[in-house]
Amino acid sequence: MKNCASVVFATVLTCLLLMPGSAAAEPVLDVIIGGQTHHFARDELLHRPDVTHVSVANDIAYGKTMNYVAVPVAALLAPFNPPANSVIESVALDGFAAQLPLDLLTNKDPAKAVAWLAIEPDDPHWPVLPGRAESAGPFYIVWTGAAVAQMRSEQWPYHLKRLESQSSPLKRWPTLNVDPALPASDPLRAGLALYKTQCLPCHTLDGAGTGTAGPDLNQPMNPTQYMTRDGLRALIRDPKSVRSWPNMKMPGFAADQISDREIDLIIGYLTHIAARRSGIP
Ligand code: HEC
Repeated sequence: MKNCASVVFATVLTCLLLMPGSAAAEPVLDVIIGGQTHHFARDELLHRPDVTHVSVANDIAYGKTMNYVAVPVAALLAPFNPPANSVIESVALDGFAAQLPLDLLTNKDPAKAVAWLAIEPDDPHWPVLPGRAESAGPFYIVWTGAAVAQMRSEQWPYHLKRLESQSSPLKRWPTLNVDPALPASDPLRAGLALYKTQCLPCHTLDGAGTGTAGPDLNQPMNPTQYMTRDGLRALIRDPKSVRSWPNMKMPGFAADQISDREIDLIIGYLTHIAARRSGIP
């Protein structure tokens, strides 16, 4: 800030506004419902009457029990009446974008899973994430409730900046879908469901999806066309077991998040999408 001291008033004011800890630096969560944007500044959220302390066992981002100051996501969204059957696209600062079904996110029954918007206070900050240089803040969706184990790892979006109501991914991006004539029990449908939850937040497929954290998985080529099945299996389980460099970002998926059978279902779905694109029957 040493330049601030010797310059004209207008610039001094700008310097002051940019100082860490000033109002300009306060993180804001955007909630966009039906196209209408509502801004929630961190301090406003921290002073809501429904703010509370939640203890999260087996926190996905930190890998241990964590305690947060949080508000119930159901109460945050309720005043804006999100359309039934919509999904809430949860977009993070790094381009991650999870599609969370509204009924899941707004459930209040503790016999199922209950979503909370955890808010990182200015002081003390949350600890840094394992293997990373930053915390999960400024906002992070965490889960409690009896069915918390059913939540998938990519349904815990952190570094959150926006929640936006959207139609379901298959309505929005019909190219993600498998042949509608396939029976409900077809393994390709299970592969699609897993892809939507665990991969789509970071990887678009043929341009379908919002996530920009990782590469598209069908353009220009689909990994099933240039990786062996064993290599791909290993990469999904633990990317570092295939290749490793300091800035790599893809998380591994432990067996309690994706089973061996589920990895094969995802690879089956990717193979199906690759074949459809290249016209192989
Ligand atoms: C949190 C974001 C994230 C998620 C979730 C994610 N990936 Fe990735 N993935 C990445 C990034 C980023 C890369 C680029 C390499 C890196 O930085 O790790 C990548 C690379 C890959 C590659 C290698 C592509 C290439 O040619 O180099 C494959 C294959 C892949 N991911 C498949 C998957 C599958 C399948 C899933 C779902 C089970 C998945 N990823 C989930 C972020 C993610």
